Amino acid sequence: MEYRNKVILITGASSGIGKSTAKALAQFNNTIILTARRESLLKRVANDVIKSGSECLTFVGDGREPSHAEAVVDEIVKRFGKIDIALLNIGMGPPSNTLEASVQTILDCMDINYKSLINFYVPLIRQMKKQKEVCMISHMNSLATYFGIPMQGDYTAAKGAARLFLETVRMELKHFGFEHIRIQTVHPGFVDTDASKNDGIPAPNQISEEKAAAYVLKGFQKEWKENRFPFGTSLATRIGRIAPLRLRTKILLSEAPKNF
Ligand SMILES: NC(=O)c1ccc[n+]([C@@H]2O[C@H](COP(=O)([O-])OP(=O)(O)OC[C@H]3O[C@@H](n4cnc5c(N)ncnc54)[C@H](OP(=O)(O)O)[C@@H]3O)[C@@H](O)[C@H]2O)c1
Repeated sequence: MEYRNKVILITGASSGIGKSTAKALAQFNNTIILTARRESLLKRVANDVIKSGSECLTFVGDGREPSHAEAVVDEIVKRFGKIDIALLNIGMGPPSNTLEASVQTILDCMDINYKSLINFYVPLIRQMKKQKEVCMISHMNSLATYFGIPMQGDYTAAKGAARLFLETVRMELKHFGFEHIRIQTVHPGFVDTDASKNDGIPAPNQISEEKAAAYVLKGFQKEWKENRFPFGTSLATRIGRIAPLRLRTKILLSEAPKNF
């Protein structure tokens, strides 16, 4: 779908891919609503968006809180009457070790990557079912969603859960006749953001956050159900998915640092 003159929500927009996508969309006369916890960074992104000619509104809050997500969606609909595109981008995957992580650490990763998606998804789908024009929920997933990866056990589990949930949503929208709602999952490979800079996770074929944003916009336009990039990492993931488990394990472990 086109991304000009639209009402667009981006969650997790204070830094990284969310920030860069907001700035890229700002050139197309949109109304862009940004959320995150770090207010000063969010304001900085909002200023850039306004300078590029789009309208901008910010909401400071924690995506793990259902009441925050409900309030954001309610307020957007009150002010603008609709939401054309929602890019649900909140997430993070710091390095982890499944043999040492606490219950809290593992479930926190689930909350940030999965619960925040569901918190926004429910009020969004309720609203979008009432709309008549084509609209889209796009979720920032990862190429790390398809199988377990050393150092990313909790993260791959959370992203995998999100991918499966949205796959079912897509089927049920078709079944119940809401085909104007597009469900997209975005699967970047390694992106050079503040979050990933010094995390120690091997990052072959890494791309800049600006390049990632350009892929995200292309995905909106093409309405791909799964937007995977860049090509090399996406292809490697495809091969990894069909490779025998023993071979995949050997390759993934050869990349993992000895101590983490
Ligand atoms: N970088 C990569 O290599 C890579 C690869 C594949 C997928 N991804 C995915 O891309 C998305 C963005 O990641 P990034 O690398 O751009 O990292 P980032 O710069 O840390 O961006 C994460 C964004 O989410 C927000 N956020 C985190 N926890 C939040 C919470 N509880 N409530 C509200 N906002 C929250 C952060 O803002 P505040 O801290 O201000 O709240 C920030 O704006 C994530 O979903 C990540 O899993 C990243």
